[in-house]
Amino acid sequence: MNPETDLLTSRTLPKILVVDDDSNFLFGVSRMLVKAGFDVIPASDGPTGIMKAQNEQPDLILLDVNMPRMNGFQVKQALNISPLTQFIPTVFLTAMGDRINTLNGLNLGQDYISKPFDAEILTARIKAILQRAEIGYLLAIQDSKKNFFATDRFQQWGQTVEIHDYGTAGHTQRVTCWFTVLARALGLTGADLENARKGAMLHDIGKLAVPENILNKPGPLNEKEWEIMQQHPVIAVKMLKEVELLQFALDIPHYHHEHWDGSGYPNHLAGDAIPLSVRIFSLVDVFDALCTKRPYKTGMEVTLALEMIADKSGSHFDPAIVRYFLSNFDTIKKGVTDEYIQESIGNR
Ligand SMILES: [Fe+2]
Repeated sequence: MNPETDLLTSRTLPKILVVDDDSNFLFGVSRMLVKAGFDVIPASDGPTGIMKAQNEQPDLILLDVNMPRMNGFQVKQALNISPLTQFIPTVFLTAMGDRINTLNGLNLGQDYISKPFDAEILTARIKAILQRAEIGYLLAIQDSKKNFFATDRFQQWGQTVEIHDYGTAGHTQRVTCWFTVLARALGLTGADLENARKGAMLHDIGKLAVPENILNKPGPLNEKEWEIMQQHPVIAVKMLKEVELLQFALDIPHYHHEHWDGSGYPNHLAGDAIPLSVRIFSLVDVFDALCTKRPYKTGMEVTLALEMIADKSGSHFDPAIVRYFLSNFDTIKKGVTDEYIQESIGNR
């Protein structure tokens, strides 16, 4: 692996644990999920599934009901006992589609799907459950005040947005690394930096409320669609403001589309009225977007992207930050590669 070249192309996929004793079925579902863009952890019986759920912390579990040793309902009851696995959303996937089993499944898990299933419908249901689970998790944190546990989840929330907004895969992690390095170089430290990093990871969480056909539209948005899209920073604030741990992390989700000259949205802030962390973030956000392939465009060469950033100095971006970014680009890029590696191996 070459971290320098992989930096702009890598993505982290949501992990699905599939527990089924039928090896043909396990193979078929796993292949289908990989094709749909998920990382799959297979398990051929209940106890193995429980062990892998504890160790690998999947984002969702697909659980067969009729298995030897432990059936799916017993597995789910065991998962519910452990604080490490009780909140992992679970979908029962089984041929036993009668009323009693369906009700049992819906009482214990998030969904109950009968075999044979339609691959596209299963994928769509998984995506919907993952989105709901993340929003539910936010509210659970607020209720339980288990704030110490929440920090690890920010990256995953960002990735949930990426599932919804197919074109942005990997953007959250990359942009957070670029932001961290540039912000540190420009003097952000301690709690200010940590709060801003949380905001960076959650910057587009409001997009969960924007319909997929607008987010992933290959052509330009019409007036109505653009109006809806422009709501995502406001929605982000509504979603995050009640969470105690995020009280000082709202600036980036709220203002990351504001421009230095006041032409941005949603509040048309200008100049120094835009917090420093946001001015830094909006530059790296755009830089990453320019360099990344999206459904409607190819990725731009870095030198061209830097020229575009320079062009927008004083209009979109704070000129002082643009100057620093351009004059120190190689050092920043090296720092980002190191940061990315540290974060990927969990050392940060
Ligand atoms: Fe955004």
